[in-house]
Amino acid sequence: MSVLEGKKIVLIVTGGIAAYKTASLIRLLIKRGCKVQVIMTPEAINFITPLTLSTLSNNPVYTQFFDGKTGEWTSHVDLALQADYIVVAPATSNTLSKMASAEADNLALATYLSAKNIVFFAPAMDLDMYKNPYNKENIEKLIQKGDICIPPNKGELASGLEGEGRMAEPEEIVNFIENFIRKELLFYKKKILITAGPTYEPIDPVRFIGNHSSGKMGFEIAKVAEKLGAEVTLISGPCNQKLSNYSSILRIDVISSEEMYKAVDAHYQWADIVIMAAAVADYRPKTVSKIKIKKEEDSFSLPLIKNKDILLHLGNTKDNQFLVGFALETNDEENNALKKLQKKNLDMIVLNSLRDDGAGFSYDTNKITILDKQGNIEYFDLQTKEKVAVNILNSIHVRIKT
Ligand code: CTP
Repeated sequence: MSVLEGKKIVLIVTGGIAAYKTASLIRLLIKRGCKVQVIMTPEAINFITPLTLSTLSNNPVYTQFFDGKTGEWTSHVDLALQADYIVVAPATSNTLSKMASAEADNLALATYLSAKNIVFFAPAMDLDMYKNPYNKENIEKLIQKGDICIPPNKGELASGLEGEGRMAEPEEIVNFIENFIRKELLFYKKKILITAGPTYEPIDPVRFIGNHSSGKMGFEIAKVAEKLGAEVTLISGPCNQKLSNYSSILRIDVISSEEMYKAVDAHYQWADIVIMAAAVADYRPKTVSKIKIKKEEDSFSLPLIKNKDILLHLGNTKDNQFLVGFALETNDEENNALKKLQKKNLDMIVLNSLRDDGAGFSYDTNKITILDKQGNIEYFDLQTKEKVAVNILNSIHVRIKT
């Protein structure tokens, strides 16, 4: 999923030949899930029509403070404050100069000057204008103020000359903005290994020992972690959860606890953070029948042997990974969770109590308590599993920072 999904972008189009490229830029932003509001300077409408940009952005395009037909006034302050990001593309030398000297002689500039959010600008002009020391000084001033310059390319310019000043291509602009946002995210480039769901321990070709874990909690953590910039590997037991729109999450499906152990072990060294949300079966049948077991006797017993405790193994072989376990308890909850935290050498444990209404496997909600190895305890209210995932990741972030 793009970090731009759901973001509101105010695109300021100014009067340069590269304005024609904003048609593609708008399409790319919309494809990434952005809402785009275009504002054009009076000169920009000579290079591409407001109708074209309005059709592509699915929004009216604003060009002036007052609408001559309706007499309505467009509030530059509202436009600026509603946006998550402002993108000025193309940014001509004239507009850059006015931005740098706080001139507000059109709606686009007034909106820019009212902005409190991050502003990206993509210079576009002829090479000598670009090289001009006053223009360079303006760009430097804007960067000093905190605006982000998307550097122009070298290449053939509208004048026929070759040099620096050609606006970055629409794909480059979108990639630049996405990379910038990603770097600001809490878990940028952190490698997070997450397990989810139940494990199935085979009895014969048609039966298994399993549990009711839906996998939802682990999947929500994986999705939120990805949105926060992490590189996520999700090892999942059999469940019906989907990851559509999260193509960058590496999903590895396993069935038994033994398979989960092998997959986790193979990725352990790679990980900075491990979150074991899976409900791993503690025991498996001692032997697995190759053929279906027939019902013959009135009673039937199945010898079971203990599975490897994956988390205990991770705790015992820990390097620098931040290790998070889950504890699902029915009684003496905090004590039991604390014992698991210590025994498995964890940094943090997420406790659910089956005594809390709305918490546990089959719900879309969960109520958690977080305990850490320093002895801190945080209590949370009943929340959706997505919110719980956010809380868990925030708690991890606070602890890895300190
Ligand atoms: N876990 C694991 N491997 C197992 C069993 C559990 O990695 N074979 C992990 C779970 O993913 C969870 C944590 O250990 O993060 C605690 O699991 P839980 O089932 O609550 O506790 P157990 O250690 O199995 O102890 P008990 O079942 O006796 O409460």
